[in-house]
Formats: sequence, structure tokens, C-alpha cells
Amino acid sequence: MRRLRCALVLTVLAMSLAACDADAGAEIDAGAEIDAGAEVDAGAEVDSSPPAAVEDLDMRAEDFSCILDWPQVRRFRVTNLLGHLDEALAVAESPTGGTWPVGTVLQLVPFEAMVKRRSGWNPPSGDWEFFSLDTDGDKTLILDRGKEGVVNQFGGECLACHGKAEPAWDFVCEEDHGCDPLGLTPALIRLSQEQDGRCP
Ligand code: HEC
Repeated sequence: MRRLRCALVLTVLAMSLAACDADAGAEIDAGAEIDAGAEVDAGAEVDSSPPAAVEDLDMRAEDFSCILDWPQVRRFRVTNLLGHLDEALAVAESPTGGTWPVGTVLQLVPFEAMVKRRSGWNPPSGDWEFFSLDTDGDKTLILDRGKEGVVNQFGGECLACHGKAEPAWDFVCEEDHGCDPLGLTPALIRLSQEQDGRCP
């Protein structure tokens, strides 16, 4: 409102000056128009939230790395590739759960991963993207990825299980968040992590 009034004052000023001196009026008027235009554009951008300004993590195969290098939380591994690791670890340690920050990568075993995308990317999966992975030496292969329909090596659909986690846990299953059990013992999970081919 203040900007609008300011633009109006400038225009009125320009018009009255134009009445006395045509040249001066033209100059001030042009200036006022450019300022007002720039302000309106900036406002419009904020309102429509362009994706370019929003943090997101669109993983490439080479962005995955040795999971033994990532902090371990109980049985799984966590990292954040957008610099929000402290926030992610705070959610991991919270007794009441929480929403994981964008850029979080979770892996229980080297052959599957959950990656937190930008807010609003896909609300039915809590903005998590699911990955079925394989490793070839120190390289990661993405076998499949997506919002739904991604299956693990036992033929189970990621979202079908992780979608059963109680809302407070943001699609993270662990042992007691409401998901169907995975059938992997802690010893097998540990062994699988230690055999991550991407680790030196
Ligand atoms: C049969 C149900 C089931 C299916 C299918 C399944 N998961 Fe899970 N997932 C679990 C359970 C249960 C855990 C916790 C296991 C534990 O901590 O011992 C888990 C753990 C995880 C974790 C560690 C964080 C967490 O939620 O505890 C990730 C990451 C993960 N799964 C990703 C996937 C991906 C990706 C897929 C599909 C490719 C998938 N899962 C398929 C049940 C499932």
C-alpha cells in the first residue's frame, strides 16, 4: 500500500512538473514507472514461489556414497546433502518424531534409500522419494526411483509399508512406528551395511 501511494505521489509530481516543464516531467515519470514496475515484479515472484528458489534434492547416482561414513541412528544411517544434518539428527533423536528436513537421505541397507524432496513435491509420500539401488564396485546404480510403485529386492512396495508409519514419524518405520516388519535381523542389517561396496 505504501509503495502504491509512493508511486502515485511520484506520478502526480511528474504530471504537475510536466505541466510546467515538458522535459523534466518526462524524465521523472519514466523513473517512477521503472521503480514501480520493479517492485510489483518482486512481489509477484514471492507470491508464486518459483521452484528455482526452493531447496530440493534431485539425486544422481553419484550423489550416493558409503553409508558407513554417515552418522548411525539406531539401525539406520542418515545424512543431509543440503546442509541440514543437525536438524535431521534432532528429528532422529526426538522422542515425539517430527518432519525430516529437505535434503535428508536415509538408508537402512545399501540397496534402498529414502530422500526428502522439497515441500509439496508429493504429499501422499510425505515428499519422500524412494529408491531401489544396487552397487557395482564403488558405483551406485539406481534400479528404480519415485513417489510410489518402487519395490525392494523382496518385491515389497516401499510406500505400502512406509505409508503405515504413524504420522508423527514422517514415513520412517523403525521397529515400532506401525509398519509391517521387514524381516531383517539387526545382525543382518549391520552386515549389509558393512558390505557396502562404495566404502573404501
Ligand atoms: C515389508 C515392509 C517394508 C517394505 C516393503 C519396505 N520397507 Fe523400508 N523399512 C521397513 C521397516 C519395518 C524398517 C525398519 C527396520 C528396522 O529398523 O529394523 C524399514 C527401514 C527403512 C529405512 C530406514 C528408516 C526407517 O524407516 O526405519 C529406509 C531408508 C527404508 N526402509 C527404505 C525403504 C525403501 C526405499 C523401500 C522400497 C525400495 C522399502 N524401505 C521397503 C519396512 C519396509
